[in-house]
Amino acid sequence: MPAKILDGTAIAKTIRAEVAQGIKDLQSRAGITPGLAAVLVGDNPASATYVRTKGRACKEVGAFSETFALPATVPESELIALVQRLNQDKRFHGILVQLPLPGHINERRVVHAISPDKDVDGLHPASLGRLVEGEPMFVPCTPAGIQEILVRYGYDPGGKIVVICGRSNIVGKPLAILLMQKRRGANATVTVCHTATPDLASFTRQADIVIVAAGSPNTLTGDMVRPGVVVIDVGTNRVADPTDKRGYRLVGDVDFASVEPKAEAITPVPGGVGPMTVTMLLVNTLKAARRSAGLEPDEGDVRS
Ligand SMILES: NC(=O)c1ccc[n+]([C@@H]2O[C@H](COP(=O)([O-])OP(=O)(O)OC[C@H]3O[C@@H](n4cnc5c(N)ncnc54)[C@H](OP(=O)(O)O)[C@@H]3O)[C@@H](O)[C@H]2O)c1
Repeated sequence: MPAKILDGTAIAKTIRAEVAQGIKDLQSRAGITPGLAAVLVGDNPASATYVRTKGRACKEVGAFSETFALPATVPESELIALVQRLNQDKRFHGILVQLPLPGHINERRVVHAISPDKDVDGLHPASLGRLVEGEPMFVPCTPAGIQEILVRYGYDPGGKIVVICGRSNIVGKPLAILLMQKRRGANATVTVCHTATPDLASFTRQADIVIVAAGSPNTLTGDMVRPGVVVIDVGTNRVADPTDKRGYRLVGDVDFASVEPKAEAITPVPGGVGPMTVTMLLVNTLKAARRSAGLEPDEGDVRS
């Protein structure tokens, strides 16, 4: 039987409708429209596309957003001064600084300058620390989106063996912490693999759920999974394709052709995790705005 395709675009649409309703409620209860400030440094085309997509998504759900574009040569101090101004600006409940930043800027210092109350990307140490504590405030968007896909499709990670390939600060590490929490929608036994893992396949073959965020095509192939596995492909890799008008196409980290026949369910690329990442940014921005109005519980508000 062919694997069930875990359609991130469809789930994203459902969640965006929920966010749009949440925004209407907030406007009528507190007169507040959630606002997102997006900071874009330089002219990296992929970053510019991501920021445009996020701006469009805000508009679609009725949130307010503004992009602050700075030249690639901007001194770090000026960027941090902008973030500090945005921290004080009451129109914005969320701030995102699109990464990566140019090499002369220390990304950590910039992310640390964002107020934890407006950290809708969930990358500030205060957000990550609360996630580790088990009392999350803002969960990083890609891990949060992956959890939503699993739960909403009925593949609750509770009691399952989950293997994650990748340990980045934005995907692998926070995802591992999220899925190991003693909470609904989590409670998994999690193993994190990376480039120093000996014999990756010996781990992935044991998994009920494999999540691949390695940044390289074909990291997971059919011989590396057991029948009935659920596979989440986070990878977004551009591979040259002269038949595509852009000259490239997007592929994930999973060899879909060999893994899909063995899987019970699998995310496609594109149309899997990507749309969920943007959607969880909207969820976090609404949460930040609700919190500013005292309408959001401070603790334990993620699948408690
Ligand atoms: N769809 C979305 O919304 C979304 C969001 C974020 C990222 N992404 C995509 O997801 C991928 C990962 O992103 P990232 O930022 O997490 O990447 P990253 O910072 O480059 O980290 C990649 C991680 O994968 C590990 N890795 C690489 N090759 C491996 C292999 N063969 N076996 C096991 N582990 C391996 C690396 O191990 P070491 O630590 O040992 O180097 C590292 O921990 C990229 O393709 C990125 O574009 C997509």
